[in-house]
Amino acid sequence: MKIALASDHAGYDLKTGVAEYLKTRGADFIDFGCGPGEKVDYVDYGARAAGAVVSGQCDRAILVCGTGLGMAIVANKFRGLRATPCSCVYAAEVSRAHNDSNCLTLGGRTQTLELASRIVRVWLETPFEGGRHARRVGKISDIESENFK
Ligand code: RB5
Repeated sequence: MKIALASDHAGYDLKTGVAEYLKTRGADFIDFGCGPGEKVDYVDYGARAAGAVVSGQCDRAILVCGTGLGMAIVANKFRGLRATPCSCVYAAEVSRAHNDSNCLTLGGRTQTLELASRIVRVWLETPFEGGRHARRVGKISDIESENFK
């Protein structure tokens, strides 16, 4: 699994910590920026990483801004993205099991690296349950097809 990683300036430190955590797991990832000391718009960096998932370059994305909210809004404008801001481990687990999340968003100003690493671990390791949840996710895809012309 290849992961697209991105942040704005508010998420940069947490993204760097998450990148270190991903390295300890041997996870394959591409960092789409931003770099240190830059002051940027989260929209631009979230869009780069989300675009990499749409194109198939990456399988999933982890996006970090101040709260994880702006990044989730951006990513959910991309076809096929199911971005979930997860502020606790339970949400991370259910975002995978029920929502088949393929984009985790985190808050650099709202979460510690210790918590974020636990969230990332559970998000990476929890499989989609399918079944009735597949029907519901399918309905989301139907809405997308209807509205994303
Ligand atoms: C940047 O100051 C901040 O607005 C951004 O990181 C994010 O929280 C937006 O959702």
